[in-house]
Amino acid sequence: MHNLLASLLGFVLAAGMAHADDSLYARLGGEAGVAQITSEYIDAVASDPAVNQSFEKVNLKRVKKMLVELTCALTGGGCVYSGDDMKIVHKNLKITEREFNALVEALRISLDRHGIAQRDKNALLAILAPMKRDIVEK
Ligand code: HEM
Repeated sequence: MHNLLASLLGFVLAAGMAHADDSLYARLGGEAGVAQITSEYIDAVASDPAVNQSFEKVNLKRVKKMLVELTCALTGGGCVYSGDDMKIVHKNLKITEREFNALVEALRISLDRHGIAQRDKNALLAILAPMKRDIVEK
């Protein structure tokens, strides 16, 4: 009986782990992968004089930390996002569509550099793209 319980428990645990490994978060490289990718594309945007106006005087460390958390929460990594609402955060920054597209492009480049599969890349972009209406000022 104990053996049966033990193997049942083992099965449940294995199923749970398989499920965790199935997440987009895991395919992005988990905590380390998402942190690296995020750091890379934020650095790219924040150091590009064509699109970095809004990043002056910004605490990049916090932005990265919050973005990693948000990405984790939205890709099945199990995090709880503790930052502010996208609309409130980006209010008054006067972010243009061109700046938004530059960030998406920087993200795409970073995902490529990390060898993320096309469909996973598209899945992440599809999650972030609809946020445009809360971020870009019309
Ligand atoms: C889908 C795209 C984007 C996402 C998911 C996103 C997400 C975030 C997050 C999570 C934060 C931190 C929130 C907090 O501190 O509580 C943040 C802050 C910020 N974001 Fe974005 N962002 C996006 C696009 C952009 C773009 C295109 C720009 C400008 C080119 C931008 C500029 C900023 C700036 C300047 C801050 C810091 C604001 C401050 O601390 O006062 N973001 N963003």
